[in-house]
Amino acid sequence: MSIRPTIAFAKIATPKKGSVVLLAADGAALAESAAALDAEGTLKKAIGVTEYSGKLASSVEILAPHGSELDRISIVGAGKTEALDERAWNRIGGAAFAAAKKAQEIAIVADVAGAEPSADDVAALGMGVILASYAFDRYKTKKDNGKAAPAKPAKITIMCANPTAAKKAFATAEAIADGVVLARDLVNEPANILGTLEFAAKAKELEQLGVKVEILTEKEMKKLGMNALLGVAQGSVRPPRLAIMQWSGGKAKDQPVAFIGKGVVFDSGGVSIKPAGGMEDMKGDMGGAAAVTGLMHALAARKAKANVIGVIGLVENMVDANAQRPGDIVTSMSGQTIEVLNTDAEGRLVLADALWYTNDRFKPRFMINLATLTGAIIVALGNEHAGLFSNDDELADRLLKAGLDTGEKVWRMPLAPEYDKIIDAKNADVKNTGGRSAGAITAAQFLQRFVKETPWAHLDIAGTAMGSPSSEINQSWASGYGVRLLDRLVRDHYEG
Ligand code: BES
Ligand code: MN
Ligand code: ZN
Repeated sequence: MSIRPTIAFAKIATPKKGSVVLLAADGAALAESAAALDAEGTLKKAIGVTEYSGKLASSVEILAPHGSELDRISIVGAGKTEALDERAWNRIGGAAFAAAKKAQEIAIVADVAGAEPSADDVAALGMGVILASYAFDRYKTKKDNGKAAPAKPAKITIMCANPTAAKKAFATAEAIADGVVLARDLVNEPANILGTLEFAAKAKELEQLGVKVEILTEKEMKKLGMNALLGVAQGSVRPPRLAIMQWSGGKAKDQPVAFIGKGVVFDSGGVSIKPAGGMEDMKGDMGGAAAVTGLMHALAARKAKANVIGVIGLVENMVDANAQRPGDIVTSMSGQTIEVLNTDAEGRLVLADALWYTNDRFKPRFMINLATLTGAIIVALGNEHAGLFSNDDELADRLLKAGLDTGEKVWRMPLAPEYDKIIDAKNADVKNTGGRSAGAITAAQFLQRFVKETPWAHLDIAGTAMGSPSSEINQSWASGYGVRLLDRLVRDHYEG
């Protein structure tokens, strides 16, 4: 695995060795602290020659400046100082890491002409560095350039006005980044390595952070009547599990909030089998469960003052003599019967029982489920926004705001009785597909039948959990989408 760099904080000074990253504001203005490094005017000259403008996250590099011990000075753009929000600081951190080209010793001078970065700004820069340094290369025995990977972590020093405050703010940012990295790893891992039991074991590891974790077996789920979830799992030799994670950082009397994830470790489609092209991507069909697990990690690691439940349904959807058939009718834990017309619409079957169980047992303040649920949401929204469906305007607005703040954006989609009618079944209470039109919406309507009056939101993350275009803070196939979004939701509204 790519080794995470170590990050330390120090007062602004003139770095003497290694690689240095300086920040330039719009118009390529350098901060005063850069003057000592530019006694010869080398930086000014490079800026002139390259017509560098200081545009946000753009960079220019100057190799081995004359008469210094430094290896390289890079300049990264901070753009317009009035637009320097948290997302911009994340991007600057990612761009700074890229500009330093994996040097072993890197100093990033977090100083911008005309703006003094706060401790939170510097922490956001640090988070950008960590997210950018992630690579899923565990199974590459050689690096792409043929060289052996370095054994030592890079040493990064972030120089800033108040290193003590920045270090403290970064501890929180790092906890969240660790949750994102965990979610990315879970999604990137192939299904032969990460099956249902292996995923459940990963959830169990959160006990080290003080999370209470229960794992329900097939037998226990049978007793609870979770036949919708179990029907999906019956074609796989790998048994289903339901993992229940509880973080109790709030007051004992505080009603918990709950997050529920679709954890299909591989989705072949079942008997309604998927076409071969691109089927390998279905190793990531547990992106919802990965986000919930990463979120629980983040909340526990930063000791969030909230009571939070995470529930993930872990199954594998396979083709087998014992697999579920189109036309099968199953009775869900809620008592509602479901006619399974397409075995590839399996995520909603898993969530139907997971949502009902969570609501029934914990009576949460709200439930938010995450799922790589439909190809239709990718047709509608591409890879930029997750689809948001909700029965509660306040919850929906809070999610929209958290999305804009963190850059993990959501776009609200409709729910309505007219759409709900489409999934009334001929031979049971509800059918698991309403056909091609409004596919993402009818999937959401299906889930809503299992939530009663509890405030609820469904995030369809099929387009955002994986395969998003690469950015300054993510170059991996899996994005870890949802961890930062939901951590922010909890922080802004449900703590203390
Ligand atoms: N896991 C898929 C949805 C998906 C597709 C996720 C592409 C990520 C990328 C889901 O289980 C599925 O197969 N949905 C079907 C539903 C249909 C059969 C009603 C779909 O979207 O085609
Ligand atoms: Mn499917
Ligand atoms: Zn699926």
